[in-house]
Amino acid sequence: MGMGKIARKFAEDLRLLPNARLHAVASASQERANKFAEEFGVPHAYGSYESMMDCRDLDVVYVATPHSLHFTCTMLCLSNKLPVLCEKPFALNAHEAHKMIEAAGHHGVFLMEALWTFFIPGVQRALEYVGAGGIGHLHTVKADFGFKLPLDRDSRLFNKTLGGGALLDIGIYPVLLALRLLGKPDPAHIQAVATFTETDVDDTTIFTFQYPDKKIALGHATVAAHTPVEAWLLGTEGSVRLHPRWHHTQILTLTRYEGKEIVEQLEHYPYQGWGYWMEAIHVQECLRDGLQESPIVPWQFTLSLAETLDAIREKIGYT
Ligand SMILES: NC(=O)c1ccc[n+]([C@@H]2O[C@H](COP(=O)([O-])OP(=O)(O)OC[C@H]3O[C@@H](n4cnc5c(N)ncnc54)[C@H](OP(=O)(O)O)[C@@H]3O)[C@@H](O)[C@H]2O)c1
Repeated sequence: MGMGKIARKFAEDLRLLPNARLHAVASASQERANKFAEEFGVPHAYGSYESMMDCRDLDVVYVATPHSLHFTCTMLCLSNKLPVLCEKPFALNAHEAHKMIEAAGHHGVFLMEALWTFFIPGVQRALEYVGAGGIGHLHTVKADFGFKLPLDRDSRLFNKTLGGGALLDIGIYPVLLALRLLGKPDPAHIQAVATFTETDVDDTTIFTFQYPDKKIALGHATVAAHTPVEAWLLGTEGSVRLHPRWHHTQILTLTRYEGKEIVEQLEHYPYQGWGYWMEAIHVQECLRDGLQESPIVPWQFTLSLAETLDAIREKIGYT
């Protein structure tokens, strides 16, 4: 559902999987659906999201509409007992996220937020290495995601009604890294500042999370300037650098401080395509095993993420 930029990349990546088939596409416009279906050899093209519910032989729906439509599209599928892989951010707020998860539970249907970062081999290696004590005790998680975009009132990124702004679009990545490594921060220990566009969405948001044991997360998201798009995991005995773009990195630098000596090791984790096919394989496995939620992106994680994004928005005054 949704024939935008990410749907195209996802469709291209599905071609890498021998046992995946794009069976139907749905767009708000029949013309766009037809065009997409023709390009990707899809047998069924629907001119509305609702009409795709008539397609009886679907295994799972990938929701790739703007944030503001994730709730409606996902609820539509779930009420028709169709499993869903829903793009990030899962919903506009935690209230919607709760309702979606409740509906999946109620209908007994699989539902997962498309957090593809957790299926990227380089990211998985970094998380495992830190978890195994490779950098001693983790102290700081630092990540940025930024690029310069001229203000475009036609783009969903600058459109408040569609849930535009840097935080929900790309700031979600530094937030999810902090949550995965350090846990959900207490809202009282979240600090955040932002600047806003003429269209009243955040073009820059910077946040810190402080944890009781003095651990810290720092995140920076912006569509007003190019940033390195790197992540650093800093510990008492070493560090991990996730090279750009860190959220789907193919290169890591592992550094260990051994007395006065600094030992650096470069590791490569190449993959084919855009990197979305790995989350697609995971969804296939979950469905095959009859799961309702993913063990890698469980519902509780999605809820914590949505609640943390809400808390940051409250600090910066983005309602
Ligand atoms: N995982 C990732 O790496 C990644 C990357 C980029 C984006 N995303 C997420 O995926 C979602 C879509 O992003 P995108 O970059 O693909 O967006 P996009 O290029 O703007 O496309 C969004 C699509 O949604 C549909 N749509 C329905 N109502 C719309 C409206 N009122 N205004 C604009 N579009 C509308 C349109 O397709 P039809 O009308 O043809 O259905 C449009 O092509 C977002 O939630 C975003 O956060 C994820």
